[in-house]
Amino acid sequence: MLGCGMDKSTIVQAYTAVVIGCFGLLSFKGNKVEEWTPLLIDRHYVEVEQEAGQQTAAVNLSSLGKPGAEVLAKGKALYNQNCMFCHGEKGLGDGAAGAAMNPKPRNFFDTGTWVNGRNYAGLFKTLKSGAGTLMAPYDTLPVEDRIAMIEYIREEFQGSSKVAVTDSELQEMDKLYSLSKGVRSASKIPVPKALEIVATEEAQKVERYRQILELLMSADYLPGQKEFVSIVGNGESAIKILSENQIWKRDSLSLARVVSGSNDNRAFRASAAGLSREDWELMYQFLRTMI
Ligand code: HEC
Repeated sequence: MLGCGMDKSTIVQAYTAVVIGCFGLLSFKGNKVEEWTPLLIDRHYVEVEQEAGQQTAAVNLSSLGKPGAEVLAKGKALYNQNCMFCHGEKGLGDGAAGAAMNPKPRNFFDTGTWVNGRNYAGLFKTLKSGAGTLMAPYDTLPVEDRIAMIEYIREEFQGSSKVAVTDSELQEMDKLYSLSKGVRSASKIPVPKALEIVATEEAQKVERYRQILELLMSADYLPGQKEFVSIVGNGESAIKILSENQIWKRDSLSLARVVSGSNDNRAFRASAAGLSREDWELMYQFLRTMI
């Protein structure tokens, strides 16, 4: 395992090395388009410790569930940046990236069965440890950022149906996460690695597209991911196109051509036409790093 005792700069260096490594490989291969090998995701994570030993801010427990305007504004910005593309702008679970997912991203208005629960502690647990297989943990974000998003979701989407915070719930959360003391963070950044394995059957392909999509959607800590997510219409169709038209691997211009030239107009959004050269370059680097 990589990284025990790494500090932040080591992590940045590690990422840089990965990115440069990929480009080294690219330039080495020159303009030759590689043989396309269908991909299958192996859920292989290299864990890199983040900001080892850093002290996180102590949380004022009595403020939970009583957000001021500032916290809500911060929560909204963070939600739009991190969650909207799956859960939708209005929290209905209808974000573009979630369309191909099964189960679907949670509709926050839903009062039915949740994995961890829709009360404060349930939401906190989800952001700390994830939920099910497709909802990733967000514990690399500072605790105050996670709290701001929880407050925003409760106020904006759950409104009068939100579950009131109880004292015993607060005490339980404090026991579990030492919120009022502030804790030493030992959070991990998962770095997914795609492995190339040949898959032959049509049915396996669809599953593979889904897995690749899931991998790309969850890598929201990498540059270029946001840009990619913003142009994906139907996720599975988009991955199918990238799987079948290997030419995009050449350079960012080729990627732009493949995206805009696809004859399945559900796959990518028309907004792709408005992206800048830099956006395409970032997206290209992201996709080459990941798949
Ligand atoms: C890549 C898509 C994706 C992103 C991004 C994402 N989610 Fe989710 N989320 C899901 C899916 C899918 C589920 C449903 C999981 C299940 O039912 O197994 C889910 C479920 C949830 C749940 C319900 C958990 C429960 O107890 O049932 C909460 C709360 C949640 N997400 C919050 C967030 C927040 C907040 C963010 C942003 C920080 C976020 N999600 C980002 C896909 C996503």
